[in-house]
Amino acid sequence: MATIIGGLATSHVPSIGGAMAKGQQQSPYWKPFFDSFDPVHEWLAKEKPDVAVVIYNDHGLGHFLDKMPTFAVGAAERYENADEGWGIPVLPSFPGHAALSWHIIESLIADEFDITMCQEHLVDHAFTLPMKLMYPDAGDNWPVRTVPITINSVQHPLPSALRCWKLGQAIGRALESWPGPEKILVVATGGLSHQLDGERAGFINKDFDLLCLDKIVSDPVALTHYSNREIVELAGSQGVELMCWIAMRGALSGRVSKVTSTYHVPVSNTGGAVLLLENTPVPKALAAE
Ligand code: DHB
Ligand code: FE
Repeated sequence: MATIIGGLATSHVPSIGGAMAKGQQQSPYWKPFFDSFDPVHEWLAKEKPDVAVVIYNDHGLGHFLDKMPTFAVGAAERYENADEGWGIPVLPSFPGHAALSWHIIESLIADEFDITMCQEHLVDHAFTLPMKLMYPDAGDNWPVRTVPITINSVQHPLPSALRCWKLGQAIGRALESWPGPEKILVVATGGLSHQLDGERAGFINKDFDLLCLDKIVSDPVALTHYSNREIVELAGSQGVELMCWIAMRGALSGRVSKVTSTYHVPVSNTGGAVLLLENTPVPKALAAE
């Protein structure tokens, strides 16, 4: 049976791609952020996941405002990136895992999540940059197969934090029932607090971000009590990307422990954060006690 070995969450700010392309990882501004990936790289080299299920919010490349799925799952053997206009390099395409994707889709729909299924899907910076942060030296030979899962955090009305938590739990059930031998890492991208436009452009809430970094490990259900309005107020209009972190955490049903976390402000206009969690599956009989 497949094993969910952990969860990784990271911000996906486009300028991270610019810094990597220009080799600025050790500049004073970027060093604390990029250094926080050293323990992530060590953990990935030790644990060697086979698959990354990447939960993120698309920003208009894969889905556009004319047709915006609340939840969508990629079901392709390959995913291409394309130029979004950020001035960052287009990354080499990513291997998919169509059989696992279809298993997830079937399981989610049986579980009453009526998601959109995408047999073609362009992946944007929110998918590609976390992959590059995890595997900076991969070139066009990514060491994991991928399943992209998107949550709408662009076109209101958005799904609630509670709904995203439940989606994550359903994704966890789907992955745990996959008969293959794969070690699976669930990745969440986005956040933490940021607002890119409007009167509060540049708004960052460090206290709330630190609270989220703590609660997502120890008491994730507490985060599901916020309404989207409250999250926008506390974390900015793009701070709702927190949904992806909540969904990732919902997928980790075992014993969860923190491997590393970092908070670095600002990364561009964003409360930049990295969090790696290890998931030790608990046998079903024990989990029920
Ligand atoms: C920024 C942050 C994002 O999450 C994003 O998708 C685009 C830009 C920023 O802070 O610049
Ligand atoms: Fe974003």
